[in-house]
Amino acid sequence: MTDPAFRFELLGHDGAARLGRVHTAHGVVDTPTFMPVGTAATVKAMKPEDVAATGAQIVLGNTYHLMLRPGAERVGRLGGLHRFMNWPGPILTDSGGFQVMSLSKLRRMDKDGVTFRSHLDGSEHRLTPERSTEIQHLLDATITMAFDECTPFPSEPEVAASSMRLSMAWAKRSRDAFVARQGYGQFGIVQGSVYPDLRAESAAALAAIGFEGYAIGGLAVGEGQERMFAALDVTTQVLPEDRPRYLMGVGKPSDLVGSVRRGVDMFDCVLPTRSGRTGQAFTRRGTVNMRNARHQDDGRPLDEACRCPACRQYSRAYLHHLMRSEEVLGLMLLTTHNLTYYQDLMAGLRGAIAAGTLDAFTAAFEAEQAQGDI
Ligand code: GUN
Ligand code: ZN
Repeated sequence: MTDPAFRFELLGHDGAARLGRVHTAHGVVDTPTFMPVGTAATVKAMKPEDVAATGAQIVLGNTYHLMLRPGAERVGRLGGLHRFMNWPGPILTDSGGFQVMSLSKLRRMDKDGVTFRSHLDGSEHRLTPERSTEIQHLLDATITMAFDECTPFPSEPEVAASSMRLSMAWAKRSRDAFVARQGYGQFGIVQGSVYPDLRAESAAALAAIGFEGYAIGGLAVGEGQERMFAALDVTTQVLPEDRPRYLMGVGKPSDLVGSVRRGVDMFDCVLPTRSGRTGQAFTRRGTVNMRNARHQDDGRPLDEACRCPACRQYSRAYLHHLMRSEEVLGLMLLTTHNLTYYQDLMAGLRGAIAAGTLDAFTAAFEAEQAQGDI
């Protein structure tokens, strides 16, 4: 049963790009949106109020990490993930299969699910569509993801087809296990690698099951931007118009702009948070490595045009010093900056779609990025 209170409001178009609003039990999300990743019930190096101050309206959590530590039943007893991490807004949780494949050794997949050893202590665990869905229910995820297999790239068409069809069977089982509640939703995940016929088959299979939203998985796994955009072109065309579309694990600023232009509404990626912690900053003029010695006497802000505290209150020289000294504040400030840059990019995209000026916005974005840091 589709819950009437979980609603995607389509406000406008510019070409294939969409302006919208996702209404949930925990608040509204303006789309296109970028969701910071809070894998272990925290956006690393950030307090929730600071995450909100960047403009983020929804964050991600992970079934895989939270089932291992602190445990889904425990989070459930403590009142759910919103209360546990003090993020009252919407939370989307990934379903676990993707993280099992990338993080755990000694995993064994069968038609029913996957058995694996924890990357933390070697203990054995099992995830099935039913258990993944139950865990996300215990976590109190606003948006639950169907349990899937992220098809590796490259894969032969026959391998990609059977992997996708397994994910579609799991999507149906995930849907049957989902407990519908007012303002909560569940998204199916399109697979099919880079093959247009498989992507179309997968999107149709999910639409026939019926979800509150549709994710596009199996991309940004080494195929490159051109092939990713080609896969998006065929996928967004066949997805239901009236539901949000979420491109999983993407990406660089130019990936976000190109994908929004192809009709994607939601994104998540560790890039702004993870690379912030290594000293890489995203700016209007491309990426800047704050560990580079050229910043050591530079009294200017990281990005003159940025509204974030790292840019308004500190110099490049100071940020450089913090990163070189491995000070915790350096991680906090660069993460704050990167998330603010990503949120302002999404706000810029939303404004351009509303104004019907997305082509001009895109051209200005590309020209500025190409200029490079000054
Ligand atoms: N994160 C990035 N890609 C994927 C995917 O294909 N499936 C899931 N569940 N998560 C992802
Ligand atoms: Zn900034």
